[in-house]
Amino acid sequence: MLKAREAIKNLHAYRPPLADRTGLRLDFNESTIGCSPRVLARLRSLDAELLARYPERAPVEKEVAAFLKLDPEQVLLTNGVDEAIHLLCTTYLEPGDEALIVVPTFAMYAIFAHLEAAAVVQVQAADDFTFPLKAVLEKITERTKLIAVANPNNPTGSAVSRDVLVQIAQTAPQAALLVDEAYFEFHGETLINRTAQIENLFVARTFSKAYGLAGLRIGILAAEPRQMAMVRRAASPYSVNAAALAVLPEALRDQKFIADYVDQVKNNRDKLQLELDNLGFHFWPSHANFVLARIGPLHAEFVRALRDRGILVRDRNSDPGCEGCVRFTVGTDAHTQTLITALREVTQELELQSKPQGDSRTDSQADSQDKVRA
Ligand SMILES: Cc1ncc(COP(=O)(O)O)c(C=O)c1O
Repeated sequence: MLKAREAIKNLHAYRPPLADRTGLRLDFNESTIGCSPRVLARLRSLDAELLARYPERAPVEKEVAAFLKLDPEQVLLTNGVDEAIHLLCTTYLEPGDEALIVVPTFAMYAIFAHLEAAAVVQVQAADDFTFPLKAVLEKITERTKLIAVANPNNPTGSAVSRDVLVQIAQTAPQAALLVDEAYFEFHGETLINRTAQIENLFVARTFSKAYGLAGLRIGILAAEPRQMAMVRRAASPYSVNAAALAVLPEALRDQKFIADYVDQVKNNRDKLQLELDNLGFHFWPSHANFVLARIGPLHAEFVRALRDRGILVRDRNSDPGCEGCVRFTVGTDAHTQTLITALREVTQELELQSKPQGDSRTDSQADSQDKVRA
């Protein structure tokens, strides 16, 4: 009988709750308005000839490199950040090697590391979800071959400084450090300009979030040229489809569209955080296009009640350290107002207003929230 590899048999499949996502989709951190009209026009102009040909990645990589002020040899276009993670695991992890992640975080790091039969070493973030640098440094061994950090992190929205990441890269020169900047546009800090100098640093970006192109599956991996040449060997030549490659330059050119959307999301992030605070929910100040809040033991009923009102949000209760937590994607003014109205109703309906008066936050939480509001 045909037998799958042990690593596959041991894997718990990542099953995103994708069935029937009708309504206001605030569950996957996608853009709530979709891509720029200029991108859509380009997409509509594609012809049969383009689709008949195998896609050519290199010319578009050149354009992306120019946009990022990098050398084309440093840039690999990928089938979303997911493929970039997969490629890094394939390129750098031997069976039994260690992949280090800080949890809670994006699920695909552990999944692709497990696929290579690597050991996944998890470091729990602090209660306030700040980055546990000391614990991470302590967990680095000579077998650590991959360290993955989402910055800002999903699902917490917390960010870590560039200096800390550089320190990690320098402490573990035998490991590929993936800095996953999927939410870069909402945060504004990047290490991509350091990839030429730091040999083991890899920075990933996506067009699935701010650019509204999750359905096209396109992302960027940037690294030092010699290491990138290794990763390129593992990459399929045609993993990025022709439609994605055709529209990408237009997506990069329409930066006004991105800036306007990002501005709106940042304002609404503040608005939502203020509302969560007013309703008495603890939340973690976010640097991304979503906010994580602790709803409590009725998290599932809460998510269901929002769904009944046509709003999809994501229950994160089973993520480590996220008991009772729900994550809300932030979108346009209108979408955020719809969410806030529903939040008020559901909070009342389920009698969740546990902390309406007074403030049970710690001083440091109160400080950071005040900074977010400022
Ligand atoms: C941190 C992080 N990285 C990567 C991804 C996936 O990106 P892509 O759609 O480019 O594969 C997500 C999606 O939720 C994410 O949160």
